[in-house]
Amino acid sequence: MKILVTGANGQLGCEVAKQGREQELVLTDCDTLNITDGIAVAKCMRDIKPDAVIHCAAYTNVDGAETDEDAAFRVNVVGAQNLAAGCLETGARMVYVSTDYVFDGTGRKAYREFDMVNPQTVYGRTKWQGEEMVRQILSRHYIVRTAWLYGEGNNFVRTMLRLANEQNTLRVVNDQIGSPTSTVDLATVIFKLLQTDGYGTYHATCQGHCSWYDFACEIFRQAGKQVKVEPVTTAEFPRPAKRPAYSVLDNYMLRMTIGDPVRGWQEALQVYLKNHSSC
Ligand SMILES: NC(=O)c1ccc[n+]([C@@H]2O[C@H](COP(=O)([O-])OP(=O)(O)OC[C@H]3O[C@@H](n4cnc5c(N)ncnc54)[C@H](OP(=O)(O)O)[C@@H]3O)[C@@H](O)[C@H]2O)c1
Repeated sequence: MKILVTGANGQLGCEVAKQGREQELVLTDCDTLNITDGIAVAKCMRDIKPDAVIHCAAYTNVDGAETDEDAAFRVNVVGAQNLAAGCLETGARMVYVSTDYVFDGTGRKAYREFDMVNPQTVYGRTKWQGEEMVRQILSRHYIVRTAWLYGEGNNFVRTMLRLANEQNTLRVVNDQIGSPTSTVDLATVIFKLLQTDGYGTYHATCQGHCSWYDFACEIFRQAGKQVKVEPVTTAEFPRPAKRPAYSVLDNYMLRMTIGDPVRGWQEALQVYLKNHSSC
């Protein structure tokens, strides 16, 4: 299968590139294919004629989006529109990666794919609008929502390990609940979905859930780091963009279709730390 990958230097893009080595991959990033440039995207799609696009590129600066809505819209909505239109013209399918931030986080039960969205941030709203753009343009789509992602590059796990080397005590938010998810598991789901005709919307996170505080404690326990972690509230850590308090996703549609191949978050973390021992 010939697959065009956008955002190939990002966290997820790197893992997709690794797992897709057996396929014919065309890896692109900002410098080689700026997805906001409609003419460039159309030309690229016509030249390459991929069987599928795995769209990993996104404006992911959640706080930055609050003051730069146009930039977030251009990448997350117009970018998705350009790629979906290119897929429609050339007959390719498309994977659009989305986020738990489409929900408002006031729920108390894991969100399923058809629960009402209610994004509370510019980032969440633009990712939802990107989803809608893809749905409207291209029927052969897989919209895959994930959360609390870590892989190559900057992420919570690496930040915690770095801070543990610099400070004796860390204060970490204990009233936001989610499911830490390794890019390894997400990329595995994406390649499995691409082998099916099960178009539609999916949730894909590692099993289980925890708070950021619990996640930090587990990182230090598994990495053997001695550091004091103090639980704090979101109110004590004000950020420009509101974080969902509860953003656990239920991989319901995965279970209904291909089965749920996703591991528990602690197991995925263990493998990540083993493979990134220099973090
Ligand atoms: N990280 C999370 O916790 C999380 C949670 C839920 C969902 N997601 C979603 O998962 C997907 C992958 O996230 P990630 O963590 O891998 O993101 P990431 O590491 O921030 O990577 C995003 C990539 O997109 C590229 N990009 C940005 N603007 C572009 C443009 N105009 N044209 C082409 N490429 C562009 C970036 O390139 P530059 O670096 O050169 O700008 C970067 O390589 C995204 O759709 C994100 O919304 C992420």
